[in-house]
Amino acid sequence: MALDLDRLSPVEQAMSRRRRWRWIIILLAAALLIWWLVFVNQYVVAYDKPIDHFRHGSIGSETANGLPILVFKALPVLYPDRMGPGGWRRFGLLYEGDDELPVGFSRRVVTGVERVWLNCSVCHVGTYRLPGQTEEHYVYGAPSNNLRLYDLIRFFIDVGRDPGFSADALVNAIDSDAVGGNLNFVERAVYRYIVFPRVQGAFLVLGRQLAFVERQEDWGPGRVDTFNPYKAIQFNFPMGPDSISEAALNGAADYPSIWMQRPREGINLHWDGNNSSVAERNLSAALGAGVTPVTVDRAAIRRVEDWMWELPAPVFPAADRIDGGKARRGEGLFTAYCAGCHGMKRDGAYDYSRRRYPGLGQVVPLPAIATDPGRWASYTPAFAGAQNMLFAGYPWRFQHFRKTNGYVGQPLDGIWARSPYLHNGSVPTLRDLLEPAADRPAVWFRGGDMLDLDRVGYRSDPGAAGAFRYDTSRPGNSHKGHEGAAYGTALSASDKDALVEYMKTL
Ligand code: HEC
Ligand code: HEC
Repeated sequence: MALDLDRLSPVEQAMSRRRRWRWIIILLAAALLIWWLVFVNQYVVAYDKPIDHFRHGSIGSETANGLPILVFKALPVLYPDRMGPGGWRRFGLLYEGDDELPVGFSRRVVTGVERVWLNCSVCHVGTYRLPGQTEEHYVYGAPSNNLRLYDLIRFFIDVGRDPGFSADALVNAIDSDAVGGNLNFVERAVYRYIVFPRVQGAFLVLGRQLAFVERQEDWGPGRVDTFNPYKAIQFNFPMGPDSISEAALNGAADYPSIWMQRPREGINLHWDGNNSSVAERNLSAALGAGVTPVTVDRAAIRRVEDWMWELPAPVFPAADRIDGGKARRGEGLFTAYCAGCHGMKRDGAYDYSRRRYPGLGQVVPLPAIATDPGRWASYTPAFAGAQNMLFAGYPWRFQHFRKTNGYVGQPLDGIWARSPYLHNGSVPTLRDLLEPAADRPAVWFRGGDMLDLDRVGYRSDPGAAGAFRYDTSRPGNSHKGHEGAAYGTALSASDKDALVEYMKTL
């Protein structure tokens, strides 16, 4: 009988079993690490400059709502008829220089896929051009005058329902030269069997949640219905015809400016004055951009907040077009008629003192201000109650939202850059606002960015503007209100001109 010299002794056997276990554990740990790095950990681009963070920094909206960047790039290839050669520009999105993404889009790698979605600047960057010039100037923190969010939402909803939107079509578009996705075999399978059904499913869900937008007036460029989509998406409020009045259904609001937030702390803001806390207004805005209470990146929002805190209001871009004498006369009129509700400049700086200007940040009841009731009606006590439950269990839980009885007198710093005027953007220029409603433009065109340096605001004739026809007789679009002796509409034409001249300097 030959000796089996290769046979392991019992001690050696035990040691080899241990080695095997050690290897299995090491391999498992490595797999776990890779899984965590690829599928759990999220990656964001960090920007040095606060302004770049504002333009493209992620606030966490991609996690729940983001589109894979290749899908974002493929959609203009798939829908040239809807978007035209400018792609996403069709919806008023702005590309600065040769940026890969429009202003207001950020990126984040989630579950191993690079996704893009919205941040604050998509709604809070304005543009203007001076008469006779083609150069487009960007004003960061100004209301967006370009963004057509209504069309953008309708587009996503339509894509979800389009029978031609298929996995094949998507993968081919991603592989097209225009997108240059160069998918390999595995990636193709991922896009076909995982990404496509998810994207289509998300658009279909959006279509169900926001079915009511089809019954709304088109918000047009530079406006959004602030709270109705919020009701539907965050809280599943019933939005059918039996559940909401026509007035409340059409709550479209103009975008506001967001500069100089420090002096706005404690002032009741949002158009109806429903919240006095800057931090809550910011966090609530982030929900509008698509973050959820779980995915919100509070540090990123805090960084935007810090930047907005002392962001100066922009200065009127044509100093040579301000008549000093006229503006001084206007200052006297403004002090007498307007400052009580809006504050004004003192010693060269805007004065936001609510002691000196007791109406600043105070709600003027709807029957007195008499502007369009839609935005006011869309914000209901039940919704305020629901909002105050958001972030329940956290120190930053909402506590300040309340239903008010009208619209609020806000600071008018940088007002030249905030056209069109009133909460629903129904009056094109400051000079028009000083006329009684019967003499304000009844049908005009918005979406352009050519400034009218005399009447102060964007030009609203069909030629100069972006050609969205704004009809003030439609629900939510009324240009009435803010009228009568107290609001300056009974003054002489030359007094009104002087007031406008003064407002150029705010
Ligand atoms: C989808 C467009 C949109 C996005 C994105 C958005 N906002 Fe706004 N924001 C608005 C609108 C519209 C209002 C006015 C709401 C109202 O009263 O109806 C507003 C109001 C505000 C206000 C209050 C301004 C005032 O004077 O009443 C602040 C501050 C603000 N947003 C900051 C932010 C910040 C910070 C972000 C990013 C975290 C952000 N917004 C993202 C549309 C947007
Ligand atoms: C009693 C308070 C009160 C007085 C007085 C008053 N306003 Fe207003 N103002 C308001 C309120 C409230 C709003 C918001 C109305 C809305 O958006 O529906 C407003 C809105 C405005 C806006 C639009 C702001 C924007 O961002 O679109 C301008 C401009 C303005 N007022 C200028 C004036 C001028 C100029 C005077 C004086 C001739 C004046 N106001 C007098 C309360 C007042």
